[in-house]
Amino acid sequence: MVAMERRHVGDTDLEVSAFSLGTMTFGVETDEPEAHRQLDHFAAAGGTLVDTADVYGAGASEEIVGRWLAGDRDRDRDDIVLATKGRFPAGNDPAASGAGREHLTNALAASLRRLGVHGVDIYFVHGWDSAVPVLETLETLDGFVSDGLALHVGWSNVTGWQLQRILRVAEANGLTAPITLQPQYNLLDRGIEWELLPQCLEERLGVMPWSPLGGGWLTGKYRRDDRPSGATRLGEDPDRGVEAYDLRNTERTWEILDAVDAVAQQTGATPAAVALAWLRDRPGVASVILGARTVAQLEGNLDAAALVLDESSTALLTQVSAPGIPPYPYGFVQDHCDVSHWARLGTAAPAPG
Ligand SMILES: NC(=O)c1ccc[n+]([C@@H]2O[C@H](COP(=O)([O-])OP(=O)(O)OC[C@H]3O[C@@H](n4cnc5c(N)ncnc54)[C@H](OP(=O)(O)O)[C@@H]3O)[C@@H](O)[C@H]2O)c1
Repeated sequence: MVAMERRHVGDTDLEVSAFSLGTMTFGVETDEPEAHRQLDHFAAAGGTLVDTADVYGAGASEEIVGRWLAGDRDRDRDDIVLATKGRFPAGNDPAASGAGREHLTNALAASLRRLGVHGVDIYFVHGWDSAVPVLETLETLDGFVSDGLALHVGWSNVTGWQLQRILRVAEANGLTAPITLQPQYNLLDRGIEWELLPQCLEERLGVMPWSPLGGGWLTGKYRRDDRPSGATRLGEDPDRGVEAYDLRNTERTWEILDAVDAVAQQTGATPAAVALAWLRDRPGVASVILGARTVAQLEGNLDAAALVLDESSTALLTQVSAPGIPPYPYGFVQDHCDVSHWARLGTAAPAPG
Protein backbone atom coordinates (compact mmCIF):
# COMPACT_ATOMS: atom_id res chain seq x y z
CA MET A 1 0.00 0.00 0.00
CA VAL A 2 1.34 3.46 -0.91
CA ALA A 3 1.65 5.75 2.13
CA MET A 4 -0.90 8.52 1.97
CA GLU A 5 0.54 11.93 1.21
CA ARG A 6 0.50 14.48 4.05
CA ARG A 7 0.12 18.20 3.48
CA HIS A 8 0.36 21.34 5.54
CA VAL A 9 -2.84 23.34 5.80
CA GLY A 10 -1.94 26.69 4.27
CA ASP A 11 1.12 28.15 5.98
CA THR A 12 0.48 26.44 9.31
CA ASP A 13 2.32 23.55 10.87
CA LEU A 14 -0.89 21.49 10.92
CA GLU A 15 -0.36 18.41 8.76
CA VAL A 16 -3.26 16.43 7.33
CA SER A 17 -3.65 13.49 4.98
CA ALA A 18 -4.36 14.51 1.37
CA PHE A 19 -7.65 12.60 1.67
CA SER A 20 -9.81 12.96 4.73
CA LEU A 21 -12.80 10.96 5.88
CA GLY A 22 -16.14 12.75 5.91
CA THR A 23 -18.74 11.29 8.24
CA MET A 24 -21.99 12.83 7.00
CA THR A 25 -23.38 9.35 6.27
CA PHE A 26 -22.69 8.04 9.79
CA GLY A 27 -25.85 7.28 11.72
CA VAL A 28 -27.90 7.97 8.58
CA GLU A 29 -27.08 5.74 5.59
CA THR A 30 -24.21 4.05 7.44
CA ASP A 31 -24.76 2.20 10.72
CA GLU A 32 -22.23 2.26 13.55
CA PRO A 33 -20.38 -1.02 12.86
CA GLU A 34 -19.91 -0.08 9.19
CA ALA A 35 -18.87 3.44 10.18
CA HIS A 36 -16.25 2.04 12.57
CA ARG A 37 -14.96 -0.25 9.82
CA GLN A 38 -14.65 2.81 7.56
CA LEU A 39 -12.68 4.65 10.24
CA ASP A 40 -10.44 1.59 10.84
CA HIS A 41 -9.80 1.22 7.12
CA PHE A 42 -9.10 4.93 6.67
CA ALA A 43 -6.62 5.04 9.58
CA ALA A 44 -4.90 1.86 8.35
CA ALA A 45 -4.50 3.48 4.91
CA GLY A 46 -2.65 6.41 6.51
CA GLY A 47 -5.60 8.82 6.70
CA THR A 48 -5.53 11.31 9.56
CA LEU A 49 -8.21 13.97 9.12
CA VAL A 50 -11.74 13.02 10.17
CA ASP A 51 -14.45 15.58 9.38
CA THR A 52 -17.77 15.62 11.21
CA ALA A 53 -20.42 18.19 12.23
CA ASP A 54 -23.04 18.54 14.94
CA VAL A 55 -25.82 18.34 12.35
CA TYR A 56 -24.73 15.03 10.78
CA GLY A 57 -27.35 12.53 11.88
CA ALA A 58 -28.45 15.15 14.45
CA GLY A 59 -25.39 14.40 16.58
CA ALA A 60 -25.19 10.67 15.81
CA SER A 61 -22.11 11.07 13.59
CA GLU A 62 -20.12 12.77 16.36
CA GLU A 63 -21.19 10.09 18.85
CA ILE A 64 -20.11 7.31 16.47
CA VAL A 65 -16.73 8.99 15.90
CA GLY A 66 -16.39 9.55 19.65
CA ARG A 67 -17.00 5.88 20.47
CA TRP A 68 -14.45 4.89 17.82
CA LEU A 69 -11.86 7.26 19.28
CA ALA A 70 -12.49 5.86 22.76
CA GLY A 71 -12.63 2.24 21.63
CA ASP A 72 -9.07 1.26 20.84
CA ARG A 73 -6.59 1.85 23.64
CA ASP A 74 -3.69 1.34 21.23
CA ARG A 75 -4.86 4.20 19.03
CA ASP A 76 -3.01 7.41 19.65
CA ARG A 77 -5.47 10.32 19.64
CA ASP A 78 -2.63 12.43 18.23
CA ASP A 79 -2.71 10.37 15.02
CA ILE A 80 -6.17 11.73 14.24
CA VAL A 81 -6.83 15.31 13.19
CA LEU A 82 -10.39 15.90 14.32
CA ALA A 83 -12.62 18.53 12.75
CA THR A 84 -16.21 19.41 13.54
CA LYS A 85 -18.61 22.25 12.74
CA GLY A 86 -21.38 24.29 14.27
CA ARG A 87 -23.80 26.95 13.05
CA PHE A 88 -26.98 25.12 12.01
CA PRO A 89 -29.60 23.63 14.37
CA ALA A 90 -28.50 20.13 15.39
CA GLY A 91 -31.52 19.28 17.50
CA ASN A 92 -35.24 19.94 17.51
CA ASP A 93 -34.99 23.64 18.31
CA PRO A 94 -34.63 25.66 15.08
CA ALA A 95 -33.79 28.73 17.18
CA ALA A 96 -30.63 27.04 18.51
CA SER A 97 -28.68 28.17 15.50
CA GLY A 98 -26.36 30.80 14.06
CA ALA A 99 -22.79 32.00 14.37
CA GLY A 100 -23.41 34.07 17.51
CA ARG A 101 -21.48 33.62 20.75
CA GLU A 102 -24.20 31.83 22.71
CA HIS A 103 -25.07 29.28 20.07
CA LEU A 104 -21.50 28.46 19.02
CA THR A 105 -20.41 28.12 22.65
CA ASN A 106 -23.26 25.68 23.37
CA ALA A 107 -22.75 23.89 20.06
CA LEU A 108 -19.04 23.30 20.62
CA ALA A 109 -19.63 22.11 24.19
CA ALA A 110 -22.23 19.61 22.92
CA SER A 111 -19.90 18.46 20.10
CA LEU A 112 -17.02 17.87 22.54
CA ARG A 113 -19.37 15.90 24.82
CA ARG A 114 -20.53 13.69 21.95
CA LEU A 115 -16.97 13.24 20.65
CA GLY A 116 -15.67 12.54 24.16
CA VAL A 117 -12.68 14.87 23.73
CA HIS A 118 -11.47 18.05 25.44
CA GLY A 119 -10.81 19.86 22.18
CA VAL A 120 -10.82 19.50 18.41
CA ASP A 121 -8.05 20.26 15.92
CA ILE A 122 -10.25 22.38 13.63
CA TYR A 123 -13.56 24.01 14.50
CA PHE A 124 -15.48 25.13 11.42
CA VAL A 125 -18.25 27.69 11.28
CA HIS A 126 -20.60 25.76 9.01
CA GLY A 127 -21.79 28.76 6.99
CA TRP A 128 -22.14 32.55 6.83
CA ASP A 129 -24.59 34.21 9.22
CA SER A 130 -25.72 37.66 8.15
CA ALA A 131 -27.58 38.18 11.44
CA VAL A 132 -24.41 38.16 13.56
CA PRO A 133 -21.50 40.61 13.34
CA VAL A 134 -18.38 38.81 12.12
CA LEU A 135 -16.48 40.34 15.03
CA GLU A 136 -18.70 38.49 17.53
CA THR A 137 -18.10 35.17 15.77
CA LEU A 138 -14.35 35.76 15.56
CA GLU A 139 -14.09 36.77 19.23
CA THR A 140 -15.97 33.60 20.15
CA LEU A 141 -13.66 31.43 18.04
CA ASP A 142 -10.62 33.19 19.45
CA GLY A 143 -11.87 32.30 22.92
CA PHE A 144 -12.19 28.64 21.88
CA VAL A 145 -8.54 28.67 20.81
CA SER A 146 -7.33 30.41 23.99
CA ASP A 147 -9.31 27.93 26.12
CA GLY A 148 -7.79 24.96 24.27
CA LEU A 149 -11.16 23.83 22.90
CA ALA A 150 -9.97 24.21 19.30
CA LEU A 151 -6.44 24.31 17.93
CA HIS A 152 -7.43 26.03 14.70
CA VAL A 153 -10.55 27.47 13.11
CA GLY A 154 -12.02 27.29 9.64
CA TRP A 155 -15.09 28.41 7.70
CA SER A 156 -17.42 26.65 5.32
CA ASN A 157 -19.98 27.88 2.78
CA VAL A 158 -19.17 31.54 2.28
CA THR A 159 -18.78 33.82 -0.74
CA GLY A 160 -15.63 35.71 -1.68
CA TRP A 161 -16.52 39.04 -0.04
CA GLN A 162 -17.64 37.24 3.10
CA LEU A 163 -14.34 35.40 3.44
CA GLN A 164 -12.47 38.65 2.80
CA ARG A 165 -14.45 40.38 5.54
CA ILE A 166 -13.72 37.53 7.96
CA LEU A 167 -9.99 37.81 7.27
CA ARG A 168 -9.98 41.60 7.45
CA VAL A 169 -11.87 41.78 10.76
CA ALA A 170 -9.67 39.05 12.26
CA GLU A 171 -6.50 40.88 11.26
CA ALA A 172 -7.74 44.32 12.34
CA ASN A 173 -8.62 42.99 15.81
CA GLY A 174 -5.68 40.63 16.32
CA LEU A 175 -8.01 37.60 16.46
CA THR A 176 -7.42 34.01 15.39
CA ALA A 177 -8.07 33.82 11.64
CA PRO A 178 -9.34 30.79 9.75
CA ILE A 179 -6.62 28.61 8.27
CA THR A 180 -8.93 26.64 6.02
CA LEU A 181 -12.02 26.93 3.86
CA GLN A 182 -14.40 24.00 3.36
CA PRO A 183 -16.40 24.62 0.16
CA GLN A 184 -18.15 22.37 -2.34
CA TYR A 185 -15.59 21.67 -5.10
CA ASN A 186 -15.52 18.95 -7.72
CA LEU A 187 -15.29 18.47 -11.49
CA LEU A 188 -18.99 19.28 -11.86
CA ASP A 189 -18.88 22.45 -9.78
CA ARG A 190 -15.84 24.70 -9.99
CA GLY A 191 -17.66 27.88 -8.96
CA ILE A 192 -15.13 28.57 -6.18
CA GLU A 193 -12.53 29.32 -8.85
CA TRP A 194 -13.92 32.78 -9.66
CA GLU A 195 -13.24 34.25 -6.20
CA LEU A 196 -12.65 31.84 -3.35
CA LEU A 197 -9.86 29.67 -4.70
CA PRO A 198 -7.67 32.57 -5.92
CA GLN A 199 -8.32 34.22 -2.56
CA CYS A 200 -7.30 31.11 -0.62
CA LEU A 201 -4.11 30.92 -2.69
CA GLU A 202 -3.40 34.60 -2.04
CA GLU A 203 -4.20 34.46 1.69
CA ARG A 204 -2.63 30.99 2.18
CA LEU A 205 -5.75 29.17 3.39
CA GLY A 206 -5.88 25.40 2.78
CA VAL A 207 -8.94 24.31 0.81
CA MET A 208 -10.82 21.19 1.96
CA PRO A 209 -13.36 20.34 -0.75
CA TRP A 210 -16.65 18.71 0.22
CA SER A 211 -18.66 16.46 -2.11
CA PRO A 212 -15.60 15.62 -4.21
CA LEU A 213 -17.69 13.16 -6.23
CA GLY A 214 -20.59 15.58 -6.58
CA GLY A 215 -22.61 13.39 -4.20
CA GLY A 216 -21.86 10.23 -6.22
CA TRP A 217 -22.31 11.59 -9.76
CA LEU A 218 -18.61 11.27 -10.61
CA THR A 219 -18.64 7.52 -9.95
CA GLY A 220 -20.65 7.27 -13.19
CA LYS A 221 -23.53 5.52 -11.44
CA TYR A 222 -26.28 7.88 -12.59
CA ARG A 223 -27.58 7.68 -16.15
CA ARG A 224 -28.78 10.25 -18.66
CA ASP A 225 -32.53 10.93 -18.51
CA ASP A 226 -33.12 8.16 -16.00
CA ARG A 227 -34.23 9.46 -12.61
CA PRO A 228 -32.49 7.19 -10.09
CA SER A 229 -34.22 4.90 -7.62
CA GLY A 230 -33.00 2.38 -5.03
CA ALA A 231 -30.37 2.56 -2.31
CA THR A 232 -28.26 5.42 -3.61
CA ARG A 233 -28.21 9.03 -2.43
CA LEU A 234 -30.29 10.26 -5.36
CA GLY A 235 -32.28 7.04 -5.51
CA GLU A 236 -33.49 7.85 -2.02
CA ASP A 237 -33.96 11.56 -2.75
CA PRO A 238 -33.55 12.69 -6.38
CA ASP A 239 -34.22 16.30 -5.35
CA ARG A 240 -31.45 16.43 -2.76
CA GLY A 241 -29.64 19.78 -2.59
CA VAL A 242 -26.95 20.88 -5.04
CA GLU A 243 -26.61 17.34 -6.39
CA ALA A 244 -30.32 16.99 -7.35
CA TYR A 245 -30.84 14.82 -10.42
CA ASP A 246 -32.71 17.42 -12.50
CA LEU A 247 -30.09 20.08 -11.75
CA ARG A 248 -27.20 17.90 -12.88
CA ASN A 249 -28.80 15.96 -15.73
CA THR A 250 -27.28 18.34 -18.29
CA GLU A 251 -25.14 18.02 -21.44
CA ARG A 252 -22.25 19.58 -19.53
CA THR A 253 -22.39 16.87 -16.85
CA TRP A 254 -22.43 14.06 -19.43
CA GLU A 255 -19.49 15.58 -21.32
CA ILE A 256 -17.48 15.74 -18.11
CA LEU A 257 -18.47 12.19 -17.18
CA ASP A 258 -17.44 10.98 -20.66
CA ALA A 259 -14.00 12.57 -20.18
CA VAL A 260 -13.65 11.05 -16.70
CA ASP A 261 -14.58 7.69 -18.16
CA ALA A 262 -12.04 8.04 -20.98
CA VAL A 263 -9.25 8.77 -18.48
CA ALA A 264 -10.45 5.88 -16.30
CA GLN A 265 -10.21 3.47 -19.22
CA GLN A 266 -6.79 4.75 -20.18
CA THR A 267 -5.37 4.47 -16.66
CA GLY A 268 -7.24 1.36 -15.52
CA ALA A 269 -8.57 3.33 -12.52
CA THR A 270 -12.22 3.82 -11.59
CA PRO A 271 -13.98 7.05 -12.61
CA ALA A 272 -14.26 7.95 -8.92
CA ALA A 273 -10.50 7.58 -8.38
CA VAL A 274 -9.83 9.72 -11.47
CA ALA A 275 -12.14 12.51 -10.27
CA LEU A 276 -10.61 12.41 -6.78
CA ALA A 277 -7.00 12.43 -8.02
CA TRP A 278 -7.76 15.45 -10.25
CA LEU A 279 -9.18 17.33 -7.29
CA ARG A 280 -6.32 16.40 -4.95
CA ASP A 281 -3.92 17.98 -7.44
CA ARG A 282 -5.73 21.31 -7.81
CA PRO A 283 -3.79 24.33 -6.53
CA GLY A 284 -4.60 25.23 -2.95
CA VAL A 285 -6.23 21.93 -1.99
CA ALA A 286 -5.06 20.70 1.41
CA SER A 287 -7.28 17.64 1.85
CA VAL A 288 -10.15 16.17 -0.18
CA ILE A 289 -13.00 15.10 2.10
CA LEU A 290 -14.21 11.66 1.04
CA GLY A 291 -17.74 10.47 1.72
CA ALA A 292 -18.93 6.87 1.61
CA ARG A 293 -21.91 4.73 2.51
CA THR A 294 -19.86 1.52 2.71
CA VAL A 295 -16.31 0.36 3.40
CA ALA A 296 -16.18 -1.05 -0.14
CA GLN A 297 -16.84 2.41 -1.60
CA LEU A 298 -14.21 3.97 0.65
CA GLU A 299 -11.67 1.29 -0.15
CA GLY A 300 -12.15 1.84 -3.90
CA ASN A 301 -12.00 5.62 -3.58
CA LEU A 302 -8.77 5.50 -1.59
CA ASP A 303 -7.11 4.03 -4.71
CA ALA A 304 -6.96 7.68 -5.75
CA ALA A 305 -4.17 8.14 -3.18
CA ALA A 306 -1.83 6.14 -5.42
CA LEU A 307 -3.14 7.46 -8.75
CA VAL A 308 -0.99 9.96 -10.61
CA LEU A 309 -2.69 11.54 -13.62
CA ASP A 310 -0.43 12.50 -16.50
CA GLU A 311 -0.42 16.00 -17.95
CA SER A 312 -2.71 15.26 -20.89
CA SER A 313 -5.35 13.56 -18.71
CA THR A 314 -5.29 16.44 -16.26
CA ALA A 315 -5.55 18.97 -19.11
CA LEU A 316 -8.50 17.11 -20.65
CA LEU A 317 -10.41 17.04 -17.35
CA THR A 318 -9.56 20.66 -16.56
CA GLN A 319 -10.65 21.85 -19.98
CA VAL A 320 -13.90 19.90 -20.25
CA SER A 321 -15.03 21.02 -16.78
CA ALA A 322 -13.91 24.67 -17.11
CA PRO A 323 -16.66 26.79 -15.57
CA GLY A 324 -16.03 29.70 -17.95
CA ILE A 325 -15.84 33.25 -16.71
CA PRO A 326 -18.96 35.48 -16.62
CA PRO A 327 -18.44 38.53 -18.86
CA TYR A 328 -18.48 41.16 -16.11
CA PRO A 329 -16.56 41.82 -13.95
CA TYR A 330 -14.55 38.63 -14.46
CA GLY A 331 -14.26 38.68 -18.26
CA PHE A 332 -13.48 42.40 -18.30
CA VAL A 333 -10.83 42.06 -15.61
CA GLN A 334 -9.30 39.09 -17.40
CA ASP A 335 -9.19 40.90 -20.75
CA HIS A 336 -8.08 44.34 -19.58
CA CYS A 337 -6.07 43.78 -16.44
CA ASP A 338 -3.13 41.57 -15.74
CA VAL A 339 -4.69 38.54 -14.08
CA SER A 340 -2.96 35.21 -14.34
CA HIS A 341 -4.69 33.15 -11.69
CA TRP A 342 -7.62 32.09 -13.87
CA ALA A 343 -5.24 30.94 -16.58
CA ARG A 344 -3.33 28.97 -13.97
CA LEU A 345 -6.53 27.31 -12.78
CA GLY A 346 -7.75 26.61 -16.31
CA THR A 347 -10.95 28.40 -15.33
CA ALA A 348 -11.20 30.69 -18.30
CA ALA A 349 -10.84 28.08 -21.01
CA PRO A 350 -14.16 27.84 -22.83
CA ALA A 351 -16.01 24.61 -22.11
CA PRO A 352 -16.02 22.63 -25.36
CA GLY A 353 -19.28 22.09 -27.21
N1 LIG B 1 -19.31 21.78 4.90
C1 LIG B 1 -20.40 21.37 4.30
O1 LIG B 1 -21.39 22.10 4.16
C2 LIG B 1 -20.45 19.96 3.77
C3 LIG B 1 -21.48 19.57 2.90
C4 LIG B 1 -21.46 18.26 2.42
C5 LIG B 1 -20.46 17.38 2.81
N2 LIG B 1 -19.47 17.78 3.68
C6 LIG B 1 -18.39 16.87 4.11
O2 LIG B 1 -17.82 16.28 2.97
C7 LIG B 1 -17.92 14.86 3.06
C8 LIG B 1 -18.05 14.28 1.70
O3 LIG B 1 -19.21 14.81 1.06
P1 LIG B 1 -20.13 13.84 0.19
O4 LIG B 1 -20.54 12.67 1.03
O5 LIG B 1 -21.17 14.65 -0.44
O6 LIG B 1 -19.02 13.33 -0.87
P2 LIG B 1 -19.12 12.67 -2.31
O7 LIG B 1 -17.89 11.88 -2.46
O8 LIG B 1 -19.40 13.69 -3.33
O9 LIG B 1 -20.38 11.71 -2.23
C9 LIG B 1 -20.33 10.57 -1.42
C10 LIG B 1 -21.46 9.63 -1.80
O10 LIG B 1 -21.28 9.14 -3.13
C11 LIG B 1 -21.58 7.76 -3.20
N3 LIG B 1 -20.33 7.06 -3.47
C12 LIG B 1 -19.09 7.34 -2.95
N4 LIG B 1 -18.18 6.49 -3.45
C13 LIG B 1 -18.81 5.64 -4.29
C14 LIG B 1 -18.40 4.58 -5.11
N5 LIG B 1 -17.13 4.20 -5.15
N6 LIG B 1 -19.34 3.95 -5.88
C15 LIG B 1 -20.63 4.34 -5.85
N7 LIG B 1 -21.09 5.36 -5.06
C16 LIG B 1 -20.19 6.01 -4.30
C17 LIG B 1 -22.14 7.38 -1.83
O11 LIG B 1 -23.55 7.64 -1.83
P3 LIG B 1 -24.67 6.53 -2.13
O12 LIG B 1 -24.04 5.16 -2.12
O13 LIG B 1 -25.65 6.76 -1.06
O14 LIG B 1 -25.18 6.90 -3.49
C18 LIG B 1 -21.46 8.38 -0.92
O15 LIG B 1 -22.15 8.61 0.29
C19 LIG B 1 -19.08 14.63 4.03
O16 LIG B 1 -19.03 13.37 4.66
C20 LIG B 1 -18.88 15.75 5.01
O17 LIG B 1 -17.88 15.41 5.95
C21 LIG B 1 -19.45 19.06 4.14
